[in-house]
Amino acid sequence: MTSIPIFRTVADMRAQVQDWRTDGLSVGLVPTMGGLHAGHMALVKAAVKKADRVIATIFVNPTQFGAGEDLDSYPRTEDADVAMIAQAGGAGVFVPSVSEMYPEGFATRVEVDGLTNVLCGGTRPGHFNGVTQIVSKLLNQSQPDMAFFGEKDWQQLAVIRRMARDLDIPVQILGVATVRDEYGLALSSRNGYLSAAEIDVARQFNVILKKAAYAIGTGGIASEECNIAAEALLAAGFQKIDYIECRDSDSLEPVERLESQSCRIFGAAFLGKARLIDNHLVA
Ligand code: PAJ
Repeated sequence: MTSIPIFRTVADMRAQVQDWRTDGLSVGLVPTMGGLHAGHMALVKAAVKKADRVIATIFVNPTQFGAGEDLDSYPRTEDADVAMIAQAGGAGVFVPSVSEMYPEGFATRVEVDGLTNVLCGGTRPGHFNGVTQIVSKLLNQSQPDMAFFGEKDWQQLAVIRRMARDLDIPVQILGVATVRDEYGLALSSRNGYLSAAEIDVARQFNVILKKAAYAIGTGGIASEECNIAAEALLAAGFQKIDYIECRDSDSLEPVERLESQSCRIFGAAFLGKARLIDNHLVA
């Protein structure tokens, strides 16, 4: 088995990255919260292809979880995660503690306006502030040439791109296509909360969203198609719809009819103990 270094302090991780940079090697960062699956691995593999050295990070970031969310029950599988990262060609893993990331007296917030008030930001207040807070720290700590994020969390990717641009963080933010199971269900650590019967229901999510994306792409009115999709999800067995909306891919402004813009259909819905999200291109 390949073994790779695990860094638990910012100083140790930074020293390693600086050594690589001194040797003229490019560095890619893959931030995660662990509980790794093939979706995360696609990011590591994309990073290994592009960068000379890849650091993955594992940190279940408390500031992006709301009250009553799954912070305590979030999967923590460090040994298996590190083995998978090594196997995929990662050169190191950064696994800081909460006190390393948020030492006593920590008081700084990082907030991207507008983009964070819609979709998941509407129902998870403060969530994206936690994400931008931790991702800005990880980028500053490691100073990578590039950082990789999944298109499964499209809004997160859009928010992080905007943050890096607005704050002149010298990093290339790269998106990686969503990895799905053979039925099209987007892989997610939270799928582990579902029973076998619920997984069958969950597999309808992408089918229904794709159908709506096709209808909008061929001239349908977005709000009508989104309502039809929401009804179909409830009929399929989802307990509650958080949102189904068609929005511009970059600005996340609402779109009612496909014209020349690039837009996507976004969905979030509750099933059993999980809240699932997904999105598809409207074309
Ligand atoms: P986490 O949910 O662990 O996801 C880490 C990265 O993996 C994210 O960029 C996410 O979009 C990507 N990812 C997850 N499932 C995927 C799939 N099925 N296909 C492709 N990519 C997938 O997202 C976070 O952690 C956190 O918010 C983080 C950015 C690490 C900040 O704490």
